Amino acid sequence: MKNEYEIIDHEYDVVVVGAGGAGLRAGFGCAEKGLKTAIISKVFPTRSHTVAAQGGISAALGNMGEDDWRFHMYDTVKGSDWLGDQDAIEYMCREAIPAIIELEHYGVPFSRTAAGKIYQRAFGGMTTHYGKGTAQRTCAAADRTGHAILHTLYTQALKHKAEFFIEYFALDLIMSDDGQCIGVMAWNLDDGTIHRFRAHQVILATGGYGRTYFSCTSAHTCTGDGNAMALRAGIPLQDMEFIQFHPTGIYGAGCLITEGVRGEGGYLTNSEGERFMERYAPSAKDLASRDVVSRSMTIEIREGRGVGEHKDHIHLHLEHLDSDIIHERLPGIAESARIFAGVDVTKEPIPVLPTVHYNMGGIPTNYMAEVINPTKKDPNAIVPGLMAIGEAACVSVHGANRLGSNSLLDLVVFGRAAANRCAETVQPGAKHRPFGTDDGSKALARLDHYRSAKGSTTTAALRDKMQRTMQTHAPVFRTGETLNEGITKIDECFARKADLKVTDDSMIFNTDLVETLELDNLLSQAVAAMHAAANREESRGAQAREDFPDRDDKKWMKHTVIWVDEAGKTKIDYRPVIMTTLTDEVQPIPPKARVY
Ligand code: FUM
Repeated sequence: MKNEYEIIDHEYDVVVVGAGGAGLRAGFGCAEKGLKTAIISKVFPTRSHTVAAQGGISAALGNMGEDDWRFHMYDTVKGSDWLGDQDAIEYMCREAIPAIIELEHYGVPFSRTAAGKIYQRAFGGMTTHYGKGTAQRTCAAADRTGHAILHTLYTQALKHKAEFFIEYFALDLIMSDDGQCIGVMAWNLDDGTIHRFRAHQVILATGGYGRTYFSCTSAHTCTGDGNAMALRAGIPLQDMEFIQFHPTGIYGAGCLITEGVRGEGGYLTNSEGERFMERYAPSAKDLASRDVVSRSMTIEIREGRGVGEHKDHIHLHLEHLDSDIIHERLPGIAESARIFAGVDVTKEPIPVLPTVHYNMGGIPTNYMAEVINPTKKDPNAIVPGLMAIGEAACVSVHGANRLGSNSLLDLVVFGRAAANRCAETVQPGAKHRPFGTDDGSKALARLDHYRSAKGSTTTAALRDKMQRTMQTHAPVFRTGETLNEGITKIDECFARKADLKVTDDSMIFNTDLVETLELDNLLSQAVAAMHAAANREESRGAQAREDFPDRDDKKWMKHTVIWVDEAGKTKIDYRPVIMTTLTDEVQPIPPKARVY
């Protein structure tokens, strides 16, 4: 090793990487069960991206009318375009109800009905009676639900004495010679020290990779660090081609305007003032699922019916809503629209555009959050010692398209599931096994490599090239031609890593080095997403192929798994979608045409 580092060793029963909703829920759940638990985060916990979630969290509480978790399960399977695993979806929708009550008891300040119950609003694709009625299923704290949940979970983590390592950047997993995860390496950004964490379970809760794109609702920190660490450990990623475009990002700024706006009665129009969603989704209209609405908006713009000087966006109206509703239930988006679009929502529409918002793909796991590394013999083979939850994971409850408000739910349900599984499998205080050949030195060699990178390409320039390639070549509608060109360009970006220049070799708050490590992480995920999208020759959920416009269940009802090695070489395989349920309280939902 070129550089000498001060290495500080730690031993924990469980180490959680990431302190968003999933990481905090898992972390304090483990601590509550008597496991010595560390939570590592590159940002202060309450700045994690969960804080930006607006519209709410789904659960069939039935506070605003009839509801049932089986309806929720049906909607989620249909929303996933039958790529979601039905055992995990059953688990999530059933567990949603106790999970929300638990959040309420922890102190989440949910909005209330006149009767004092948790307020629930309508969201896209959420129905009653298996598609017949509209469900009001999304539990809301005004339009700042993620903020309310994240702060509450952080206080629970403090209460249960989970130990925080804040502004520590996780570098890599430590794997034993027989393929078990035994810890994680991290860099303390504040004082430059290196920390080697031993753990019986490492839980990756590192969020999505939205920042592979130029325009997204995700924070700049959403670089999918855990996904890239999994790839470097020889674990594949699953369903990376399924990238959700949220219909209503603010035009030009990309900030989220919650689907809750449409849930409260807002609607979209084109340049002719037409409520065009009536043509595309006659029943659900503006509350069809996100892939459907984003495609419809894109078609309107392409066919010349976009609004504005360049006819390149769409209008979202809420000026007809009672101003009390706006002030009580949508105060945050009124502020965002004023700041980022210069719009007074009580008087004029918000200019919006489909914007990258969520990654359905990630690290494959089962419904207990255990990471899967499929083999020919066993498509469900688990990686001992490693779990993944939240947007970093692909459980898969969202399949090819996630329904709005199922993400906050995924965080808390599978965060809790991970904690429960740790309590079953980890003996508090058990002795750690000795290191194998990787004692963390591989992570330090990579750190050294970038720390002394003296090429001619800046991190900002290469990031920009990658983001524009993803934006152009893996957009809402894709073709084999654009994706194959995208492969050439994204592979070139990956290769350009060798020419990066890092201007500063300091170990203390070296943002250039952090951004370079994050870019390296993003590049392997961009490669995975582009290759996986080119390989899947069908349209399903968020993967809309113009050259293969139909869903093809015979050939393609299967999860993509993709490995990307350190040279950027990909290997693609597929594993079956789980079509069985966990209990006989509900029957598997067979595939059918997906109309709204
Ligand atoms: O539109 C929204 O409030 C976003 C919610 C979600 O992605 O679940």
